[in-house]
Amino acid sequence: MNKSQSDALVFFGATGDLAYKKIFPALQAMVKRGHLDARVIGVAKAGWNLEQLRERAHDSVEKHGGVDAAAINKLCSLLHYVDGDYNDPQTFQAIHKELNGAERPAHYLAIPPLLFETVVEQLAKSGSSQGARVVVEKPFGHDLSSAQELNRILHSVFPETEIFRIDHYLGKRPVNNVVIFRFANAFIEPFWNRNYIESVQITMAEDFGVQGRGAFYDQTGAIRDVVQNHLFQVLSNLAMEPPVRTDSETIRDEKVKVLKAIRPLDANNLVRGQFRGYRQEGGVRPDSSVETFAALRLEIDSWRWKDVPFYIRAGKNLPVTCTEVFARFRKPPTVLKESVVSHNHMRFRISPEMAIAIGATAMGAGEVLEGQHVEIMASRYPCPDEMDAYERVLGDAMAGDATLFARQDYVEEAWRIVDPVLRADTRVYEYEQGSWGPGEVERRVSPEGGWHNPITADQENPSRSAVPC
Ligand code: BG6
Repeated sequence: MNKSQSDALVFFGATGDLAYKKIFPALQAMVKRGHLDARVIGVAKAGWNLEQLRERAHDSVEKHGGVDAAAINKLCSLLHYVDGDYNDPQTFQAIHKELNGAERPAHYLAIPPLLFETVVEQLAKSGSSQGARVVVEKPFGHDLSSAQELNRILHSVFPETEIFRIDHYLGKRPVNNVVIFRFANAFIEPFWNRNYIESVQITMAEDFGVQGRGAFYDQTGAIRDVVQNHLFQVLSNLAMEPPVRTDSETIRDEKVKVLKAIRPLDANNLVRGQFRGYRQEGGVRPDSSVETFAALRLEIDSWRWKDVPFYIRAGKNLPVTCTEVFARFRKPPTVLKESVVSHNHMRFRISPEMAIAIGATAMGAGEVLEGQHVEIMASRYPCPDEMDAYERVLGDAMAGDATLFARQDYVEEAWRIVDPVLRADTRVYEYEQGSWGPGEVERRVSPEGGWHNPITADQENPSRSAVPC
């Protein structure tokens, strides 16, 4: 076994929702692919036994992705279970015993951050942190100071090299494709800068609401839930400089540099929205001013991007579910009539499928000189056997590859950017469900030429080409 490969996985929160929806399916997939053959020790305080955890694993894969009989049976044979209170040293002695001499365990904290300190301390006291790494779930903090505090807690036991902060967006292939597409092609680099690009938009639209997570969401809101983490990761991939090496630290250095060049978000460059009916959701305060929608404008003060606005928009209950990047080019200095030439654009679709499109002006069909806007698009649906984001990040964490995880400095820079507006208590505007957010967005945070609203794949041009898996 590779020296940095974890030889056991301990996951706290084994009876929880995340384990049910994401972790068991990811573990089954890892087993199926031959990437997991180590003890998996579930920990929770639920009064359960191992048989119940196995049943839960079965049920989980049945509901989320499907059962692979051989893989789930193997996973169940790898499963162990410790039931106990996180404040009780005996729980951690039991974990230590179940580790059975493992030298490189990965402790995965799929639990609320409030419990991190207790768990990390107890891991250290029981001797289970020796040679171990820790994997932590988002949200990593609530603002800059709470993130710094979480970092302090983790660092009191684990060195930064052994801390893996999950942002499942980093496990998405199309998010990584942005980097590959930029740096593995010679033609894109010459125009991917302030000389040619006028603005960049990132939209993460979801056509559903808070889906029973009202209590969590009402402590969080769109900025903390997806902007500060998922969408800043997309932004970093779009704006970073080419890394000079492919190791995790060199790549992460380049991403941090992007955030360092961004000034804190000004409240004037933000519109927060709340869908009508949100306050009637279970777990939501009746007078809540938490945003379910945010549109914002950032500037990156770097040689490459100075004066190119980057717009980010995210929301629940919008018309479609789709995450997309839209970069608009400056108009060419043409001698043709203004109306003949349109702005070029480049589009990266992150989800639901991966797509890349280039918008250009071509000659129109008639004899009168007219431009016609055309788009060349290549798209690719997830292949049947493709890794899900969770499988990818858990596999990488166990293998000790930190590339797809948020480093301490990155997380803190990301919070620094949004911190002032989180405290500013700006107005929240109501919007209709199924709309593109409050009208105030068009008035205050709208790119030249307007927002590009993504459409569903079925509405796209049917003549697009599909790329093989
Ligand atoms: C999660 C957010 O991190 O990401 C959710 O908490 C959001 O609110 C989800 O819906 C989106 O992720 P995905 O992978 O379903 O696009």
